[in-house]
Amino acid sequence: MSGQNISRQEFPSDFIFGAATSSYQIEGTKLGTVGPSHWDEFAKRGGTFNNSNGDIACAHFEKWAEDLDLIKNAGMSAYRFSTAWPRIQPEGKGKPLVEGLDFYDKVIDGCLERGLEPHLTLYHWELPLALSQKGGWQSGDTAKYFADYSAIMANRYGDRVSSIATINEPWCVAWLSHFLGHHAPGLTSLEAGVKSMHNILLAHGLSMQAIRNECDANAGIVLNMEFGAIDSDKDEDIRARDLFDGIYNRWFIDAIFKGKYPENVLEYFAPHMPEGWQDDLKVISQPIDWLGLNYYTRNFILDDGTGVFPFAKSHKGDLPKTSMGWEIYPEGLEFFLNRISTEYSKDIPIFVTENGMALHDNIHDGKVEDDLRCDFFQLHLAAVKSAIENGVNVKGYFAWSLLDNFEWAFGYEERFGIVHVDFDTQERTPKNSYYMLQKMLTS
Ligand code: FCB
Repeated sequence: MSGQNISRQEFPSDFIFGAATSSYQIEGTKLGTVGPSHWDEFAKRGGTFNNSNGDIACAHFEKWAEDLDLIKNAGMSAYRFSTAWPRIQPEGKGKPLVEGLDFYDKVIDGCLERGLEPHLTLYHWELPLALSQKGGWQSGDTAKYFADYSAIMANRYGDRVSSIATINEPWCVAWLSHFLGHHAPGLTSLEAGVKSMHNILLAHGLSMQAIRNECDANAGIVLNMEFGAIDSDKDEDIRARDLFDGIYNRWFIDAIFKGKYPENVLEYFAPHMPEGWQDDLKVISQPIDWLGLNYYTRNFILDDGTGVFPFAKSHKGDLPKTSMGWEIYPEGLEFFLNRISTEYSKDIPIFVTENGMALHDNIHDGKVEDDLRCDFFQLHLAAVKSAIENGVNVKGYFAWSLLDNFEWAFGYEERFGIVHVDFDTQERTPKNSYYMLQKMLTS
């Protein structure tokens, strides 16, 4: 695998390049005043590698200015970050904390001072524990509280940010966390999974309404998509693959763009859906201004022979892999960009809001030689470029991630940064991939 040295000039002049982070993964919940979230509790219960948590993470709450300088010096023009709900409302409701609001003022104004577009995500997974204990995303009430929090944020920042995303990766919030049990709250129940699959979209819809009531912000949602590959032509394997695609990918985008859920999934979800779900589809499918796509990998899907929904087992193909074992498959990114454009909306501005890879990087003589990551970015940027040439309305690309950070269940073991972080000293060291992007963006 080898990159082709793609250049800035090969992209439209208004195309934006940026880096992405999320609050729980970098800020440090012991820095400043932050209420407990379900991730703190999940880590305490042993849900993460080495029981690590976001207590200090990258100490970004203190080092935000240095971090913004890194983005600026990379030649990027945009920063995608998220705000921590428990830093604003420690219990998930009630009066917002001034300290939390002031912190994000500093980050946003710090972006603007440096000529960086701030792209704000309202929910990147740290649900206030108090709400989690009252049913979390299994309860429609959480969606209503999320709308109240969205109104606070839109009112305060709506006029200064370049975009607002309601939710980051609803599939992870719902299915990965309530059915597969890999993320907080770590449940493995079909009923909890299905209820969350709907309520997280309701939260998106109510949040969109709240944002629209408060400001003119450019508002949308960030969906993650994973390519469901297949190496069989048996009916049961095709069924398993189509269900995978339905649950992972189509559930969300169908609801948002078409106001309906995919039939093949609904057939199994229907008995567990929250009451009155049909009425919510109107609010869920209200127009959005832009769509974010997070893309990482593909999985081969086959029938698992159990006869139990969702009937699927997955395995990897033969392509080179990241340290997390994720296959590097840039064609999948182009596939989804084309699919969004041809099957959902030709006009919607699309941003690749996350794309990147994990490696077990080491520093030698002040250098991090992550050349495989350089190739990864080159290949995926080439895929984006090719989609643009096909007429897809892709408007920007954010590398995941600016910094090595708390990688959820994998703790600090998996490094996704273009900047290395020494978690003992909090020293930042740009990796070769950072310099590769810098060269591309500044020469
Ligand atoms: C995405 C998440 C992000 C990070 C990357 C590797 O699913 O949005 O926080 O964990 O994966």
